[in-house]
Amino acid sequence: MTQEATPAAGLPLERSGGVRDADLPLIFELSRPGRRAWSLPEPERDGPGIDELIPPEHRRRTPPRLPEVSERDLVRHHTRLSQRNWAVDVGAYPLGSCTMKYNPKVAEQAAALPGFARLHPMAPDELAQGILSLLGMLQEALCEATGMAALTFQPAAGAQGELTGLLIMRAFHRARGDERSVVVIPDSAHGTNPASVTLAGYEAREVRSDERGLVDLDALRDVLDRDVAGLMLTNPNTLGLFERDIEAIADAVHGVGGLLYYDGANFNSIVGIARPGDMGFDIVHLNLHKTFATPHGGGGPGSGPLAVTAQLQRFLPAPVLVYDDERGSWRWDHDRPDAIGRIHSFFGNSGINVRAYAYLRSLGPEGLRRVAERAVLNANYLRVRVGDAFETAYPDGCMHEFVVTAKRLRRHGVRAHDVAKRLIDLGYHPPTVYFPLVVEEALMIEPTETESKETVDGLADALNLIAEEAARDPDRLLQAPVTTPVSRPDEARAARNLDVRWTPD
Ligand SMILES: Cc1ncc(COP(=O)(O)O)c(C=O)c1O
Repeated sequence: MTQEATPAAGLPLERSGGVRDADLPLIFELSRPGRRAWSLPEPERDGPGIDELIPPEHRRRTPPRLPEVSERDLVRHHTRLSQRNWAVDVGAYPLGSCTMKYNPKVAEQAAALPGFARLHPMAPDELAQGILSLLGMLQEALCEATGMAALTFQPAAGAQGELTGLLIMRAFHRARGDERSVVVIPDSAHGTNPASVTLAGYEAREVRSDERGLVDLDALRDVLDRDVAGLMLTNPNTLGLFERDIEAIADAVHGVGGLLYYDGANFNSIVGIARPGDMGFDIVHLNLHKTFATPHGGGGPGSGPLAVTAQLQRFLPAPVLVYDDERGSWRWDHDRPDAIGRIHSFFGNSGINVRAYAYLRSLGPEGLRRVAERAVLNANYLRVRVGDAFETAYPDGCMHEFVVTAKRLRRHGVRAHDVAKRLIDLGYHPPTVYFPLVVEEALMIEPTETESKETVDGLADALNLIAEEAARDPDRLLQAPVTTPVSRPDEARAARNLDVRWTPD
């Protein structure tokens, strides 16, 4: 397919630029010998020749097989590719547990300020007081919001915060000469929890949920013993329900000498209202992208700060940011003999932390409280609006997200997966499907606090329409999506054997 050949389906010709999105050519197919997106100046006539600049033995013998394209082709190609992605800047993204909320642009502006963006990571503390005091103030605000004593910014994502917290848990027990081997997690836990437990060298022991969708207290007491290093819990949990027995849970875990780990993935539903520290938690990670509206970072260049109680602070990864009263300035304290070691180079991903600070300051304490209130309001509104079409897994009111089951649609040959695919055609990112594992045909929906009533209504209308279509025209769901360049790839194969490299014939 050449660029000139085919007008874009459904688009006026002048907007399409002559390319059908479904047939977007590879950049190699756009290549024409000799086309360039750059022009370099000729080497100076009297200056060193190419042989002097790059000795022949260091030059490649055959030129690399790179596409030869003009700047225009290059820009259009990558712009088109970027438009194939769904994003929080494009539309609603109700992916339960993941909290994909809109990121305000003021935070981007703050992160782009040259003093932050261009600071050399090895700048001495005295020359980096701007970023250090910002991180210091953010650290204080996050400790205050979670009810913890100290914090590290090193983890680059929530999952890395989990690993860091578990290594601290191990260091704490070890320092008391008390080697323990087990970490308890509920059956509704996010997959990163058991993965982190295993990575930290512990054995994961499951505790079941009761008929309310909450940790079964009796079952918990049964699995607790002196091998247990701690319990990992989200509150509200991954079913979107608040663990009302949290104080009894904390007592039971502390009673056997264990620690309580708070997975902060759902903190946006309680921020400014309740604090994990007051519930009895000892270790807390925060996924800044979920609560403090920073880019998610795909598990990599994000930020998952980890906060701990006073008794655990000596184990935090070094260096730790401290305020030096004598000098009247912030500095990195490297002298931490009990630290678990480094988790990330330099300050962690500080650009993300700048964004979180900007978000926090733009809202203030009252605004933060409204974040939680709106997250819960939006989720409950949507839950009730789709309640006739989709049975909620647990009948109680929810916090910031809820889980429904699509099992009633099975009689029409339709599954949760098909509902998700059809939503794409209707202009919404699908919710999380088949998680938590304890709910059959699960759809886990989190509208987030940043969506308007109009958007939440639109999503409710789309879900209700899909339920109707399942009865009337199930084929429409089974064929979906029809509006995307690729309809139903083999998702397991795509994830396990990702092959995106083009090779010439
Ligand atoms: C409950 C829960 N825990 C942990 C994580 C992992 O967080 P991250 O993606 O920041 O590594 C997630 C991510 O969605 C989550 O929902």
